Amino acid sequence: MTAEIEIRRDLVRLARALFDRGYSVGTAGNISVRLPDGFLMTPTNSSLGTLAVDTISKLDSDGRHMSGNPPSKEVTLHQAFYDSRPQTGAVVHLHSTYATALACLADTDPEDCIPPVTPYVVMRVGTVKMVPYATPGDPATGESIRALDGKCAAVLLANHGPVVCGTDLHSAVYAAEELEETAKLLIALRGQKTRLLTSAQVDELNQRFNAMK
Ligand code: 13P
Repeated sequence: MTAEIEIRRDLVRLARALFDRGYSVGTAGNISVRLPDGFLMTPTNSSLGTLAVDTISKLDSDGRHMSGNPPSKEVTLHQAFYDSRPQTGAVVHLHSTYATALACLADTDPEDCIPPVTPYVVMRVGTVKMVPYATPGDPATGESIRALDGKCAAVLLANHGPVVCGTDLHSAVYAAEELEETAKLLIALRGQKTRLLTSAQVDELNQRFNAMK
């Protein structure tokens, strides 16, 4: 099992890599990682570009703040993924530009925000549903995620941004990147006749690569 200090270092490094490549700006976004005795979470109002290992928030398994700076206001959103998908080891929420654009467009299909344009979005992200708008930090968002019964590894928060979970920190970050790049493709392809993967191709990917469901 990876030692907590290693996970803290990975969190600082990967959050900074997201920030440096423009997936997060200002103090937008938050990331959490499950530990055997609770969770690590990025502190509220912190930049993903300048986290420090010793001020990361630590919560107990019920989400109570134990140490570090006060946690993100989105604790209940993250908790909803851990509770409804037991395989979840990390959750990444961003305001990345193109996924957020899809979360704002009135004609994005709320049941299938990211249609299967490429194999990797099927393999790393899976079906993405839209979660109704609520004020940032409102527990209603967590309730909407619980209502999905663990069926989605990723959602778009309407008019707000993407949230992606993974079995560990690396896979959650990679999936968040894949989601953002696919959203960019979808915006570039808007209004053009686009060939989607067929349901047989999607099924094959799911079977062969144990893709996200
Ligand atoms: P926090 O700074 O509290 O994590 O909030 C940022 C955010 O992205 C809200 O959705």
